[in-house]
Amino acid sequence: MKKQINIGLLGLGNIGTGTFKALRLNRAHIEKQLGAGLGITRILEKDTTRDRGIDIDPALFTQDPDAIWNDPDIDIVIELLGGVEPATTFMVSAMKAGKHVVTANKAALAENFELLTDTAAKNKVKLRYEASVGGGIPLIGAITESLNANVFSELLGILNGTTNYILSKMSDEGLAYDDVLKDAQAKGFAEADPTADVEGHDVANKLSILMSLVFGKRVRPEDIPTTGITAITKDDIADADSQGCVIKLLASAYRTPDGEINCFVQPTWLNKTHPLAGVRNEFNALFLKGSAVDDLMFYGKGAGPFPTASAVLGDVIAISRTI
Ligand code: HSE
Repeated sequence: MKKQINIGLLGLGNIGTGTFKALRLNRAHIEKQLGAGLGITRILEKDTTRDRGIDIDPALFTQDPDAIWNDPDIDIVIELLGGVEPATTFMVSAMKAGKHVVTANKAALAENFELLTDTAAKNKVKLRYEASVGGGIPLIGAITESLNANVFSELLGILNGTTNYILSKMSDEGLAYDDVLKDAQAKGFAEADPTADVEGHDVANKLSILMSLVFGKRVRPEDIPTTGITAITKDDIADADSQGCVIKLLASAYRTPDGEINCFVQPTWLNKTHPLAGVRNEFNALFLKGSAVDDLMFYGKGAGPFPTASAVLGDVIAISRTI
């Protein structure tokens, strides 16, 4: 094993900053486990002056992505730019240059799953993306490793923190969608442009990735029937409540008796006794039914800089052990 693992970080926004801070905070613990040094040695980021509440050596910043692929000392590239492009092109370039890649980018993975996984295989590098679905919940590692013996028949997930927060507040406080959204934006639980979250596109991206892993079936996010939460009213929530139910934005996929796999994203009434009904605020959960393991549920924080950094750094450590 190498004695010093070097990382090139693409993007120092909220998640990039969280990852940088989490690595600095836990570095001694991580390095002790690894038996090697682990450090971020280059950062691709235009905004070099923003106060991120942490000291960053200005010499780490570059505006030239090629400087990262061409740096022979960099072993792993962490991609935290978000969006399909230029993130996809950058990840492909990094892998072609022999760098392992860790990403949290569900949009790029959902859109270009074959391209990214094939490029990793062809170039004999690792591509890991635990943080792309369910934030800090270690569900991709579980599905692709520990649960390999199972044939899955059902998947049901609450996979978006923003919409789960909004629906929880509407339910708890009897508030209207628009009022909760404004409050969520003010508190940083919803983006200034919340479209991808509230229209269900973020969940469709995550379900597309899970479909490949859980059912071995590639479904492009735009082919997943998707309805968001923008039309949910106070009355809808009250109606559901009067019937002992809550409304949740669910990602759902199941195997039909004739072997087809159906999937959709939509607001759904859930009986309050269902295990997913108690998943509130920014928490996410994934319920799976496997042929050997039977019912299984994962629960944890699906969004936020530190929960996401937990998954990103877990992937970095797993790759580092193989270098
Ligand atoms: N906007 C996403 C959410 C972030 O609210 O869950 C994590 O993917």
